[in-house]
Amino acid sequence: MAGRVQGKVAFITGAGRGQGRAHAVRLAGEGADVVALDIGAPLPDIRYQQPTREDLEETVRQVEALDRRIVPVYADVRDLDGMRSQVDAAVAELGGLDVVVANAGICTPTAWDSVTPEQFQNTLDINVTGVWNTVMVGAPHLVARGGGSVIITSSAAGLKVQPFMVHYTTSKFAVRGMAKAFATELARHNVRVNSVHPTGVATPMGTGDMQEVLGEAMATDQRLGAMFMNMLPVDTTQPEDVADAVLFLASDESRFVTAHELAVDAGVTQM
Ligand SMILES: NC(=O)c1ccc[n+]([C@@H]2O[C@H](COP(=O)([O-])OP(=O)(O)OC[C@H]3O[C@@H](n4cnc5c(N)ncnc54)[C@H](O)[C@@H]3O)[C@@H](O)[C@H]2O)c1
Repeated sequence: MAGRVQGKVAFITGAGRGQGRAHAVRLAGEGADVVALDIGAPLPDIRYQQPTREDLEETVRQVEALDRRIVPVYADVRDLDGMRSQVDAAVAELGGLDVVVANAGICTPTAWDSVTPEQFQNTLDINVTGVWNTVMVGAPHLVARGGGSVIITSSAAGLKVQPFMVHYTTSKFAVRGMAKAFATELARHNVRVNSVHPTGVATPMGTGDMQEVLGEAMATDQRLGAMFMNMLPVDTTQPEDVADAVLFLASDESRFVTAHELAVDAGVTQM
């Protein structure tokens, strides 16, 4: 039986682990080939587990086990030219591109008066400029193909304010607007652009040391901790929950969905 994205090619950033890996595996399981990009090296400011080269090697293994093709790309989303040359070559190898998933990001919760200028800049460089770079590298291939789907990973923090994240919230509201702006101009090429807004997800970013980091910030104003509470009775979601939403947006099932904000947020943004 044909998969839901059978024969499509998807370019995914942050594909080494967490949600990006889940997207690669879910799309491959439904018949897509993958260009999987990750930095595979230490990131600035983060206080959770650092990425490694081996992360992306594991994603490659998991996609190949599904009998799909995958081209790994080690690059930094902040480096437009470096990304473009490698992704263009990977797309040529796989015969075109249909889907772009701009997922790579960092999150460094900090009380407002402790955020450093470097931390603010690094967050915007990766979470905003990195997303713009990703779309600028990927979208021309979709236009050349006559259509496609761009999916930008924002956050619940891009729909509703989340505390102790002035820099992160700024970045996630920015890419929500960016998705709508790209959607407007790319519509005539049959390219759809949507944003996805997860609540907490059980990934290296969302677990482990992150709880301690958030706890430190929360100690500065305990009342605001309530803003993280999900409406549904779950503390966290799984990367596969977000991958299901990405699969829908990548597939032709969503062919008339564009400039839309899809919240996979267990209701947190309505609390
Ligand atoms: N985990 C959560 O609770 C949560 C909630 C809402 C939104 N998000 C967003 O989801 C996306 C994925 O996060 P995750 O939870 O999978 O995090 P993660 O840290 O587990 O994985 C992120 C991946 O992106 C890669 N990456 C980061 N910066 C990069 C760069 N400059 N160049 C190339 N690759 C880079 C990392 O190496 C890593 O493999 C992020 O945009 C994040 O902001 C996460």
